[in-house]
Amino acid sequence: MKRIFSGVQPTGNLHLGNYLGAIRNWVRLQDDYEDCIFCVVDLHAITVWQDPAALTKATREVAAAFIAAGINPEKAVLFNQSQVPAHAQLAWVFNCVARMGWLNRMTQFKEKAGKNRENVSVGLYAYPNLMAADILAYKATHVPVGEDQKQHLELTRDIAIKFNNDFGKEVFPITEPLIFGEGTRVMSLRDGTKKMSKSDPSDYSRITLVDDADAIAQKIRKAKTDPEPLPETVEGLEGRPEAANLINIYAALSDRTRAEVMGEMGGKAFSEFKTLLTDLAVSVLAPMTTRMNELLADQAELDAILRRGAERANEIASPILDEVYDAVGFLRP
Ligand code: TYM
Repeated sequence: MKRIFSGVQPTGNLHLGNYLGAIRNWVRLQDDYEDCIFCVVDLHAITVWQDPAALTKATREVAAAFIAAGINPEKAVLFNQSQVPAHAQLAWVFNCVARMGWLNRMTQFKEKAGKNRENVSVGLYAYPNLMAADILAYKATHVPVGEDQKQHLELTRDIAIKFNNDFGKEVFPITEPLIFGEGTRVMSLRDGTKKMSKSDPSDYSRITLVDDADAIAQKIRKAKTDPEPLPETVEGLEGRPEAANLINIYAALSDRTRAEVMGEMGGKAFSEFKTLLTDLAVSVLAPMTTRMNELLADQAELDAILRRGAERANEIASPILDEVYDAVGFLRP
């Protein structure tokens, strides 16, 4: 049986990378896979300090963004992680399965912790185990994500393999990552060698799902470029990270390949291309922002959607957790 699971952290506004690298792909998969589970991962968010009121607000915003982007909460299971206890329960078991050496190799932890390792939370270190628990609590077989999550998904596979071996039972599937489309790695608008991220101090580095048309236009106008016009071919983008990033964004937003976009845009001045990119970005993002705001205006309904989603998620995860507890040998009445 095929089952999709994926999640997004409620830590500030979602950006174009989250949309093009992940959420937009989920919307498509929803039609091909019967069984889709999408989660606002609030337990992950608190691995770094979150203001409580801001966390609640961001959780609703991310849920609204999922629906505004086209996730159908009647079909897919949509909820926030902390409402389903199996995530934290299974994460503890995985803390005891994963090896320190595995976690020591996680590049995202190294980047986030920086030189300050003594002072980051234990949760930040154990984060990938919780992520494995998210996926495996549902025995998910496919996980659509952006490229930056690849290493975490390899760890998820290692944990599944070790658990199955340790306890001599094929409890967990070996999950496949789904990383596809032209938007798997959207880069900063200020530096084409850095990933677009929520934590970049510059607002001009990212387009968010709450930016209005003026903000989008301004950010694209200010986006870093180089002095040459666009090259004629995809190969000409080599060594020009900012040009390559803007072309990738255009391709992803218009649902075409880079080669197709270069056929049309090759040789154009950046000023002209940026105007076309702005029009495209606004035409895709503006309806989503409007829909998000409508959803956020009815908080009770949004909360009810998440509660119903959590109940459905719980029904799937509970028997799987029982199976895990039995395999481990935990006594249950
Ligand atoms: P998060 O919240 O950082 O990002 C959510 C999704 O957006 C993708 N993404 C990007 N894609 C392309 N370009 C970018 N610049 C970019 N930035 C982010 C991410 O790859 C991700 O798919 N650990 C995860 C959340 C998580 C999860 C899970 C994901 C927790 N449990 C289980 C899948 C399955 C994270 O921090 O994503």
